[in-house]
Formats: sequence, C-alpha cells, structure tokens
Amino acid sequence: MTTGIPGVSAPEGLLHGYRDLLPLTGRTPLLSLGEGHTPLIRGHAIEQRTGLRRVFLKLEGCNPTGSFKDRGMVLAVAKAVEEGARAVICASTGNTSASAAAYAARAGLRALVVVPDGYVAAGKLAQSLVYGARVAAIQGNFDQALAVVRELATTGAATLVNHINPYRIEGQQTGAWEICDALGGGPAYVCLPMGNAGNITAYWKGFRRYRDLGRITALPRLMGFQAEGAAAVVLDRMIEQPTTAATAIRIGNPASRAAAIAARAESGGQFATVSEEEIRAAYQFLAAQEGVFVEPASAASVAGLFKLAAGGLESDGAVVCILTGNGLKDPDYALSLMNELPAIPATVGAVAAAAGLDVPT
Ligand code: F0G
Repeated sequence: MTTGIPGVSAPEGLLHGYRDLLPLTGRTPLLSLGEGHTPLIRGHAIEQRTGLRRVFLKLEGCNPTGSFKDRGMVLAVAKAVEEGARAVICASTGNTSASAAAYAARAGLRALVVVPDGYVAAGKLAQSLVYGARVAAIQGNFDQALAVVRELATTGAATLVNHINPYRIEGQQTGAWEICDALGGGPAYVCLPMGNAGNITAYWKGFRRYRDLGRITALPRLMGFQAEGAAAVVLDRMIEQPTTAATAIRIGNPASRAAAIAARAESGGQFATVSEEEIRAAYQFLAAQEGVFVEPASAASVAGLFKLAAGGLESDGAVVCILTGNGLKDPDYALSLMNELPAIPATVGAVAAAAGLDVPT
C-alpha cells in the first residue's frame, strides 16, 4: 500500500494483510490504524520459573489503542461504513470503547459508548473521551451496560460493535493466525484471560480455520482464566455482583460463555480461577522479570500458567500467553502497589543516597 507521498507508507493493517481470509467485499474500506502484527516474544523468565521449554508472550498492548480489541474493531467499523452506518455503539469495561472510539474517529462515524461508572481504568476513559466518543457512565455494571446497548441497537440508530457483532470475532481470529504464521505451525497451549469470552471464542475459530486450510496440523489446547470474583465461565453460572481489581474482566454474565465452554471441550483445554493476589504477582513478575507492562486482566493468563505449571503441566511445544492490554491503561492499579515517592533535594548526594548507589567522594 502507498500513500502517494514519497517515502511514507500507509500502515499495512489487518484488513490488507489478511484480505484473503476476512469477509471483505470490493466496497469494504481498507480502514487501518496499523493494528495487528504484534510482537511474539520469548518469555525467558517464565520458562525458568515454570520449567516449560518454550513460552511466548503475544504483546497485544502494542496495538494502536493498546489492546487486542483493535483486531475485531477495525473490521466491525469498516463493515459498518460499508453498510452505510453513521454511528456505532458499544458497552465496555474500557478497551472495547477506546477501540470503537478510535476507529469511529478514523472512519468519520459517531461513537456512543456505555461504561460502568467508577470501574473503567483512567487511561481507557481518557482515550474514549479524547477520541471524541459520547461516553455514558451508567450506575450499573458491564452486564447492565450491554443489555442497554443491545436494546438501543435494535432501533437501528447505531451499529452495535460489541463482539456479538460477528465481524468482531472474524477480525479477532487474526491473533491466532499471526501466532501460527510466526511459529511456522500451531502452538501446544494458548493461555487467555476471559471476560465476555469473545476472545477465546475467536482464537478457537481462528485455529480451526488454519487447520482446515492445512496451515497447521494440530490444534492447541485453550487454557482460559478468570478472576475468582468474576468467574462466570469457569463456574458456568451467572455472577450477580462480579468483583475484581482487573476491571477489564469484571463481568458476571458473559455473552460467549457457552462458546468458550465448547472451545475448552473441543480443544481438550482447561479453565481455572486465579486470585487477586495471583494476578498481582504475575503482573509484577511480567514487568520486573520480563520487562513487559500489561494491565491486570492480561496478567491473569500468566497467573493461570503459573498455577497450571505448579500443578505439573509440562510441554515441549510452544506455550503462548495472550497479553491482551497495555499496562499504561491502568496507572492507578500500578501505583496502588508502590510506595509513595518522596521528593528529595536536587543534589548528587541526595539522589545517590535515594538510589542506594555507593558514590566515591
Ligand atoms: N483482557 C482485556 C485487557 C480486556 O479488555 C478484556 C475484555 C479481556 C481480556 C477479556 O476478553 O471479553 O473477549 O473474554 N474487555 C471487554 C471490554 C469486555 O469492554 O473492553 P473477552
């Protein structure tokens, strides 16, 4: 793709890169903010700790709005444009709304996002507002927000871009395809955090598609993790009042619960809960030992892997953890774990003392 400006290339986003596998027509705009093609890096510290031979981290926080949501959103918004929509609407714990707001801005559509008041991380709320979305903060949780937007969307006033919009799942399959393309085959295990359970559903669809195309021979086992206080998929029942500091996955009535449970059965995978403490420990391990800053929900995948490895999980194949969102999204969670930083005099002596450095005098 070219921009017509010498030396400046247009971002080759997912719609262009996977145009043969996505449901595009001649009228689908090739919308892009340069999403996808995220790094797949080795998790050496995790390998050391778990004894697993090959652990990979899929850095979805490197997407344009800082989360995996951009994969499905770029397609959902492009199709909304193709179908003549003027506005998009979604419910969100913060990342879907940031992504919808960004792609709507890019495509010239209006965006209305409905979020649970007080339970959206600061970075995500800032994104939706600055991208120009109308933000409605409701006195209720994500499940209530989703019920409201589902009903509003039936009026035809705006196109629903939650993952019940099938284009979201179609686009999110690209995460699975990229992993197979990068590894030159399918992984053995994939670990994901689950909230509404759209992402695990999309990954399963994506891996099956690649198997059917003959691009991989074996399917991975899908390992899904939820916070103890919001474990509707793991427990297979609705949770009236979901609680977790990982606000992205604070969901009690996941729209794709049944699909996720089917994916577990078909893949021979496992689901488990992780405690708030296990999420926090994995979050800090990722940042301090791997140099990867994720948001708390994303750390659930690694917390889950630690738990399974402690329980005896072994594999010679590739184990991939999907790190769904960037740590910058939720600075309050990060800072809540740290000590206050007192201001000190701007002198070499004071700084050396504060840093614990031995400076010869
Ligand atoms: N990780 C992050 C960072 C998320 O934002 C979400 C979901 C998930 C994991 C779980 O993915 O819902 O497909 O199982 N966030 C949604 C939102 C609910 O509104 O941004 P899922």
